[in-house]
Amino acid sequence: MATTIDVKLGERSYPIHVGHGLQLAQILEAKPGIRVLMVSDSNVDALHGEACQRQLASQGFEVLRTVIPAGESTKSLHWVDFLYGKAAEAGLDRSSVILALGGGMTGDLAGFVAATYLRGVRFIQVPTSLLAMVDSSVGGKTGINLAQGKNLVGAFYQPIEVDADLDLLKTLPSREYVSGLAEVVKYGVIWDASFFHLLEKEVPGLLKRDSALLEKVVARCCEIKAEVVAMDEREIGPRAILNFGHTLGHAVEKADGYGRWFHGEAVAIGMAYAARLSTITKGFPAAEAEAVVRLLEKLGLPIRPAPGDTVEWAALREAMMSDKKTLNKRPRFVLARKLGDVVTGCEVEESILAEAWHVCSK
Ligand code: GLY
Repeated sequence: MATTIDVKLGERSYPIHVGHGLQLAQILEAKPGIRVLMVSDSNVDALHGEACQRQLASQGFEVLRTVIPAGESTKSLHWVDFLYGKAAEAGLDRSSVILALGGGMTGDLAGFVAATYLRGVRFIQVPTSLLAMVDSSVGGKTGINLAQGKNLVGAFYQPIEVDADLDLLKTLPSREYVSGLAEVVKYGVIWDASFFHLLEKEVPGLLKRDSALLEKVVARCCEIKAEVVAMDEREIGPRAILNFGHTLGHAVEKADGYGRWFHGEAVAIGMAYAARLSTITKGFPAAEAEAVVRLLEKLGLPIRPAPGDTVEWAALREAMMSDKKTLNKRPRFVLARKLGDVVTGCEVEESILAEAWHVCSK
């Protein structure tokens, strides 16, 4: 059994399949001669590369399997060039497909290559991390990092299909899985209070990776993301709600030199902060802010830097200045009015920013 969610974007619409043991690339007619360039990193390839290649080959595709090193440093122009070379060697043409089998890093890089090689070849996302399933594989953001900052080069380029095969989560290391749960909680806060309360009730099942629960939860996250993206594909307006927790979250990652925290962990710290800031400035009920913080904690996510950690407010404040969402040196936040209802583009007085951090870091 699988659940299918449609991302409705006119001629760029596509299905997201969520289930166990999915058939991949269902949208493609397996005509002889269709080439699929499969891209995964060395960790994912060792676990799932063979099976994915075998399945695609059995459907009649000519599969070319390419492996890149694991790690965020691969999201660079060097590896874009490497993949362009592989695409050319493999003789990809306009009927070909690039398939990203992996987490957010692989999807962002392979998606950027798909968007630009031959001015665009078809692209399929097969996310292997929880974070990629509920967030980065859906919505068409692709990009790479420059020395000057993350995701500074990229394109909005929608895949033609997303296959979120929950069986692939079985091999995901625990810390990475839990990190993905931060983005799951985010959907409850920004869009759906009853989903938030379901997560509160289902903490043990979530931590056990209960199959039926995961299908329901991942499908609901994808449904919400699909709805938001359909409203605002290019983040001109409401798509920015997906950045709840990310203003401080990105600063936490940056101030720490990008080695210490997983993205979802930094977002969890950012959401705890945004919840407190929302209570001070938007009347977000204190009990609801507390519920957000408690849920993150119960899932094993950090809600503040660890005791003795050197992340100082001044360093975070400085890091927020270079965020893409910062205008005129004033960081902008997504803040909650109540569970399931947030506002974007909020500027907050300096003294209040520091006060909320003080509350959080105690
Ligand atoms: N990850 C946020 C977005 O896709 O807009």
